[in-house]
Amino acid sequence: MVERAKFREMKDGTKEDWAIIGAEYREFAKDLPDRVLDHLKLLDGDFGGFPVCRLEHSLQTATRAHRDGRDEQYVVMALLHDIGDTLGSYNHPEVGAAIIKPFVTEEVHWICQNHGAFQGYYYFHHLGMDRDRRENFRASPHFGACAEFCEKYDQAAFDPDYDSEPLEFFEPMVRRVMAKPLASMYAKAVEE
Ligand SMILES: [Fe+2]
Ligand SMILES: [Fe+2]
Repeated sequence: MVERAKFREMKDGTKEDWAIIGAEYREFAKDLPDRVLDHLKLLDGDFGGFPVCRLEHSLQTATRAHRDGRDEQYVVMALLHDIGDTLGSYNHPEVGAAIIKPFVTEEVHWICQNHGAFQGYYYFHHLGMDRDRRENFRASPHFGACAEFCEKYDQAAFDPDYDSEPLEFFEPMVRRVMAKPLASMYAKAVEE
């Protein structure tokens, strides 16, 4: 029989209850890369009017970053930067950023978190919006890095003829980067 905690309210929990939950949590957390990869696949075939579907755009962004010599944290961010499109129709950059946050540097997280405004430089003016919205971030030490991500990889990744690597190519990278959190308030609970 699967062991379960016995409390009805969390305030009544015991050390034994939390030993059960902690063990389950460690097992569940190990499969995070699988859940993330499964969710990324939801972007397959979702064109939204673009020349390529959102999964191809993600693969192409990551492939361009990888071929340009970026490290694994950066490439995984590039792969996942639009994963929030499914659940965050009005704030997708923040969804992807929250998922990668425990595993990447502050700058790589910042790029993901704010890429929406920077990407707007390439199209906001076509929709009657301010293409220079990214200027609000000019004072950040990460402004240049985010502008570079959008210029070199994100805005450039809509070519149906580009030979992007398949998702399988990036899977080992996702597993390595997400193997252990660099920082998380739950980090200690993951330690065995
Ligand atoms: Fe995006
Ligand atoms: Fe994108």
